[in-house]
Amino acid sequence: MSTDIFPKVVITGDYFCNRENEREELGAYILKGRHTWLQAHRRHGKTSLVAQCVEDLQHSHSLYYSRVFLSFSIDEAACIRKIIKSIDSIIHAFFNAHEPEQPLGEKMIRFASLLSEVFRKLQPTISLQNNRPVISTAKNFDIVALEDALAGLNALAAKFDFRAVLFIDEFQEIAKLKEHLMLESTIREQVEDATHLTFIFAGSEKTLMQQAFTNKKRPLYKHLQPFEVKRISTPCYHKHLNKLARDRWQHPMDEDAFETLMFLTQRHPYYVNFLCDELWKKEMPPTRHDVEEAWNVVVYKAKREGAYQDSALTLNEIRVITGIANGFTQNMTRKDVVRSLDMAASSIQSTLKALIEKGFIDENEDGYYVIDPGLATFALRQAGN
Ligand SMILES: Nc1ncnc2c1ncn2[C@@H]1O[C@H](COP(=O)(O)OP(=O)(O)OP(=O)(O)O)[C@@H](O)[C@H]1O
Ligand SMILES: [Mg+2]
Repeated sequence: MSTDIFPKVVITGDYFCNRENEREELGAYILKGRHTWLQAHRRHGKTSLVAQCVEDLQHSHSLYYSRVFLSFSIDEAACIRKIIKSIDSIIHAFFNAHEPEQPLGEKMIRFASLLSEVFRKLQPTISLQNNRPVISTAKNFDIVALEDALAGLNALAAKFDFRAVLFIDEFQEIAKLKEHLMLESTIREQVEDATHLTFIFAGSEKTLMQQAFTNKKRPLYKHLQPFEVKRISTPCYHKHLNKLARDRWQHPMDEDAFETLMFLTQRHPYYVNFLCDELWKKEMPPTRHDVEEAWNVVVYKAKREGAYQDSALTLNEIRVITGIANGFTQNMTRKDVVRSLDMAASSIQSTLKALIEKGFIDENEDGYYVIDPGLATFALRQAGN
């Protein structure tokens, strides 16, 4: 359980805000082995949701989980190595929980022979390092090892009737490799054959993820259940933050202050936490003015931390972002928008497309919006608004 009530990283436990429906739905998919593709923008709570679901399920089910983070994996071997290390950590967690009353030495010997039964091509080892058992399924990190490690994990889980959950995050890194089709088809085989292993995939580069899972020519086409992780609703935040406000000041939040918080952060979970972290430092319950002041601090700090990733933006992209932040969200090629942005209609259109692809803006029923609310405010300030 987290002790930081508004962390910048993964959150579970008492300070995890609701998401009851998503937890129930994703939990059901995990248990029945429906492999899932989590769709969400950066820092919208994917990892937290999966971790919370796993914690929920572990109360009543035998379930072991690991997350693979594929960013910075420069080649095929690096990707495979990370996936296999995650498999090892699941096996290790199962080993620790299994027959806890057995003396360690005997347990290790029995487990080693068990592992050699379930892994057909690999020769897994279990050894003591600094008095702690270490499990290693593979020494070489190639396609054959990946196939056998995934199949072996499924076989072990089937033998002891537990569910293994493998969350492959930043999956698009595989799609960037020269040999990506081989890797994807190996994973597809395991996705198809898995009986006790559930895969969850996510990635922050939307276009590459879409190509990997929705293009007929790709091995994982139509093999996954898309699952959209939306922003947390206002009523959920209302209940959650008022509870935390009562814990802090023995008083719920001022309604005006709460609404301003929701408006400025646009319910982006990373920014809600960032702003609340500033507010909860105060001795008195925050007013609307306090929220606005703290937001200025957040926008400044986020810029300093490089959160906006705006250094690669072209002048036209900055103009369009500023226009959207200013309230131009629909019919972006109409005359008043063209005049205000001082751009040709065709150029506005191609810039919108590029910004969507780069993950800076998106579209919903109300029109276009800037995904990062800190960047939206920053762009407005730069433009003198
Ligand atoms: N249900 C929640 N309740 C409260 N805060 C949350 C919740 N979900 C996510 N957050 C907060 O939002 C931020 C992003 O969460 P998380 O790291 O889980 O997102 P992510 O989508 O996995 O991010 P990334 O794109 O970096 O992988 C963190 O500050 C986290 O504490
Ligand atoms: Mg994450």
